[in-house]
Amino acid sequence: MSALQLRQMTPADIPFGMELKTLAGWNQTEADWRALLGYTPEGCFVAEWEGRPVGTATTTIHDGKVAWIGMVLVHPEFRRLGVGKSLLKHCIAWLQQRGVPCIKLDATPAGKTVYVPLGFRDEYELERVETVARVNGETRIAGCQVQATECDGEAISALDNEAFGVSRRLVLQRLLGEHPDLCWTVRPPSFVLRPLEGFLLARPGANAWHLGPWAARSPEAAEALLCACLARLAGQRIFADVLVNHPARQLVARYGFAPQRPLTRMYLGCNDWCGDPALTYAVADPAKG
Ligand SMILES: CC(C)(COP(=O)(O)OP(=O)(O)OC[C@H]1O[C@@H](n2cnc3c(N)ncnc32)[C@H](O)[C@@H]1OP(=O)(O)O)[C@@H](O)C(=O)NCCC(=O)NCCS
Repeated sequence: MSALQLRQMTPADIPFGMELKTLAGWNQTEADWRALLGYTPEGCFVAEWEGRPVGTATTTIHDGKVAWIGMVLVHPEFRRLGVGKSLLKHCIAWLQQRGVPCIKLDATPAGKTVYVPLGFRDEYELERVETVARVNGETRIAGCQVQATECDGEAISALDNEAFGVSRRLVLQRLLGEHPDLCWTVRPPSFVLRPLEGFLLARPGANAWHLGPWAARSPEAAEALLCACLARLAGQRIFADVLVNHPARQLVARYGFAPQRPLTRMYLGCNDWCGDPALTYAVADPAKG
C-alpha cells in the first residue's frame, strides 16, 4: 500500500482544514468549509500520509457545467512529495467521471506550478487587494436606488449568471441566507422590467471581511455599491479579489485598497461558459469562483 491515500472529506475534518488554511494565512472560516462540504459532499477530499491527514481539496459543481477546485492545501511538512498533484488528479478524475466539461480554479503562484503540468491554462489575472474601510460619502446614480435591504435573490442570480457564465444559485442562496445585511443592489427605476445594474455581497472571514461577488453594468454602479459597503464596514479590514485588466482595479485603488497577492484564473477542458468578465468587479471566492 502506498504511503499516500485519498479519502472523502467529512465535517469531522473541518478542524484539520482550518489548521491548514491558518498555516497558509487564508481567510476562510468554518462556515466556509461547511458550505463547501454542503455543495458537493462527495467531491471534497483529504490526503493522508501513512494515516496522518496532510492535505485537502474541494470541488464545487456549478449547474453541471463548470466545476471549481478549491482549498488545495498541503501541510508545510509534507510538501514536494506529490500530495498536491495527487489531490488535483483525483479531483479532475472525479469531476470527469461525472461528465463536467469545464474545470476551473483560482491559482496562487505556488498552486500554478502544480496546475500547469496537469493541463490548466490561464484565463485571466486577479489580484487580492485589501484596505481598512472608510466612509467616503454616498454616490448617487441618476434614477437608481442603491439598496441594502430586501435583496432580490432572483435578480441577483440573473446578473451573476450573466457575469459568471452559469448559475451558482446554491452559493448565492447561502451568502444571502447567512448574511442578508451584507448585500447591496443598484436597481433601475422600473425594476420590474429591467435587470439589476449591479450587486455586491460581503461576508465575514477569519482575517478580514471578504467582498464579492461584485458585479455591475457600469463603473458608476460599481462605485455606488462599493461606497455603500465601505460605509457599512467602516473601520474594518476588507479583502477583495479583483480582475487586473479591468476598471475594478483603478476603482478599488481610488478607495485605498492595496495589492496583497496575485491569483490566476485557470481552466481545464473547454471554456464555453466564461460569462462576461467585463461585468465582474470582484469574484466570490478563489475556492468556488
Ligand atoms: C501549492 C501546494 C498545494 C503544492 O502541494 P505539494 O504537495 O507540495 O505539491 P506536489 O509535491 O504535488 O508538487 C507537484 C509539482 O508541482 C511543482 N511544485 C510544487 N510546489 C512547488 C514549489 N514550491 N516550487 C516550484 N515547483 C513546485 C513541482 O513541479 C512539483 O513536482 P516535483 O516536486 O516533482 O518537482 C502547496 O505548496 C501548498 O499547500 N501551498 C500553500 C497553499 C497554496 O498556495 N495552495 C494552492 C492554492 S491554488
